[in-house]
Amino acid sequence: MTDLHGKVAVVTGGASGIGAATCTLLARRGAVVVVTDIDDERGAAVAADVGENAVYLHTDVTREDDIAAAVQTATDRFGRIDAMVNNAGRVGAWTYVADTTADEWDASFAVLARSAFLGTKHAARVMREQGFGAVINVSSVAGVRTGFGPHPYGAAKAAVLQMTRSAAHELAEFGVRVNAVTPGGVATRIVGHGAGLDGDALDASVDSVRRGLATFQPIPRAGEGEDIAAAIAYLVSDDATFVTGQNIVVDGGLTLGKAWPGNYRAEADAASWAGQEDRSDADRATEPDADLFAGHVPPVLTGEERHGGSDGFGGNARPVGGKGFHCVLAAGGDDLGFHETGHHGVDGDAPPSHLERE
Ligand SMILES: NC(=O)c1ccc[n+]([C@@H]2O[C@H](COP(=O)([O-])OP(=O)(O)OC[C@H]3O[C@@H](n4cnc5c(N)ncnc54)[C@H](O)[C@@H]3O)[C@@H](O)[C@H]2O)c1
Repeated sequence: MTDLHGKVAVVTGGASGIGAATCTLLARRGAVVVVTDIDDERGAAVAADVGENAVYLHTDVTREDDIAAAVQTATDRFGRIDAMVNNAGRVGAWTYVADTTADEWDASFAVLARSAFLGTKHAARVMREQGFGAVINVSSVAGVRTGFGPHPYGAAKAAVLQMTRSAAHELAEFGVRVNAVTPGGVATRIVGHGAGLDGDALDASVDSVRRGLATFQPIPRAGEGEDIAAAIAYLVSDDATFVTGQNIVVDGGLTLGKAWPGNYRAEADAASWAGQEDRSDADRATEPDADLFAGHVPPVLTGEERHGGSDGFGGNARPVGGKGFHCVLAAGGDDLGFHETGHHGVDGDAPPSHLERE
């Protein structure tokens, strides 16, 4: 297990999901953590849970002054900064490229890409002087493959990866390492948040997403914040002092793609389909609760349409559609991306003409 005693880390988006798990794990392994977020209530609660090894600071990653202040807080209070984890994020609107506004593009880039640049910039200013430090940028499978997120989201996450490599190259000689971690499907509040949920419904959406992701990737369970936090802890640690400019993909095999029919996945796919066919009432009770997403369902669910049903995450289209929502089912037959293969929705209704929230 990586030992982080004596290290000081700043984590953005530390109030929830991957960020909260990262703050907790880094502190458990001995680091002092500056937990930052715009959700002050949850952020302060994470810091309080961690205990004396954490402080909370309101930090909006779209504001350069806030990010500079977070780095300054680490050095003022703890004398150094060993790790800057640029993690804060949101999904943004799921729209066809022709319907995507320039404002949405800019807003996504501000939260996802510009923020990682600013975090890298302000950490680098101090780390260069110190002669040590690690920057970890949280990207996404949407930044390495198409079809896993809205266009601006995927483009911003891809930008994060190239900025990581570029900064790593420059900063290596100063003892500063810059790496990325790319999560796959992780059970957090990000999907519910993007769907406009709040309060209890937002909290409950995490379990719903967890069930939805259970067969989304070759490893048959959803990713958890702790899975990503473990990779981040490694990159922060002295075990990784010769690692820079790299991207650790932690996705349960999601980006490996789909197997050819009849290949070794055939049995698993058949089992998955059989599961859809023979669901008991008890099984149905564990399906993602569509009511949680009333009026907000992102209508694109990925999976392969087969025999009138679907597998993987796409299997959720049927129950969700059955509860009155239109869902567009999309499948990725090859590395060129996803294509629309079917609809589930209100009986007799025409499928939606746009990939927009109903
Ligand atoms: N959950 C997934 O499946 C998944 C997959 C790939 C990548 N990611 C990435 O992981 C990172 C963490 O996401 P998560 O799943 O833990 O989501 P989450 O919604 O649980 O946490 C995101 C946090 O970022 C904060 N945040 C949003 N806008 C902010 C801003 N302007 N300034 C500061 N904080 C802000 C939110 O308040 C929240 O606490 C994001 O960058 C996300 O894109 C997540």
